[in-house]
Amino acid sequence: MFDEGQLYSPVTTGSDGTVEVHLADNHPGRFDEDYRARRGAIAAAAISAPAGTVPVIDYTDREHEVWAIASEQLSPKHEKYAHSEFLAAKHRLRLPHDRVPQLAEVSAGLAPLTGWSYRAAPGLVPLREFYADLGARVFNSTQYLRHASEPLYTPEPDIIHEVIGHANQLASPRFARLTEAAGLASLRVESEEAMKFIADVFWFSMEFGVIREHGEVKAYGAGILSSFGEMDEFTHMEHRPLDLAQMGTLAYDITQYQPVLFCAQSLDELEDVVGGFFDTVDDDLTDRLRAEAAGA
Ligand SMILES: [Fe+2]
Repeated sequence: MFDEGQLYSPVTTGSDGTVEVHLADNHPGRFDEDYRARRGAIAAAAISAPAGTVPVIDYTDREHEVWAIASEQLSPKHEKYAHSEFLAAKHRLRLPHDRVPQLAEVSAGLAPLTGWSYRAAPGLVPLREFYADLGARVFNSTQYLRHASEPLYTPEPDIIHEVIGHANQLASPRFARLTEAAGLASLRVESEEAMKFIADVFWFSMEFGVIREHGEVKAYGAGILSSFGEMDEFTHMEHRPLDLAQMGTLAYDITQYQPVLFCAQSLDELEDVVGGFFDTVDDDLTDRLRAEAAGA
């Protein structure tokens, strides 16, 4: 089951006000004191920003370079592997390739396209809060970059995932509406099991979803389209038809390439099945779907 807390490095504030980000043992920046200090400073900026404001980060040349390398490497793969709806949205949003954009710029680009805005988060945002904000077309985003030693890899969602993956997706009115619907769905359910079920369906759609297009399997999920390695692998994985009972219950390992993906036959089918689920789900429906999965 999807546990978002596994993805993010924990952030703590000491009694002296020092903000610290606790990187996992396998994190490429684990022993880099400068990187760890930088992560603390960027998290602190989000924590101390006055309500309603987004901190401006003065990115270093090295950070801009990491963005530029990732952006340059991901772009040709998008042309080859991304669904046309994502590509069209990406071309309309026109994010910079050579430097890290500020979140305020991302919001300014999305505003006329779909009305979404970006808010800075130091790390993990509690699941309920994250989804409630999606329902208001607000995306909570981290601002840090992955470690410069591995510009094409990150064990946690950094600004390259949040912006190159999600903002390009949210520049599409159709994907924007699906994401908003997931957020509104969270407000309708009471049990934590139902909330998890919605988050898991989201994982297998907006994060790792694929669609058949002109006889090929194309990606629209932000988790695939922000990952160099995942784009090399997803066409070879097992592609199952959309199945809400499975999508909400299938166990998966977030640290591996996703071996099972759910493939819509078209964007219309995705909107009917997954969009229809987000639009109508309540606690009873997730109970029924879980029972269906257990009996299958
Ligand atoms: Fe994501």
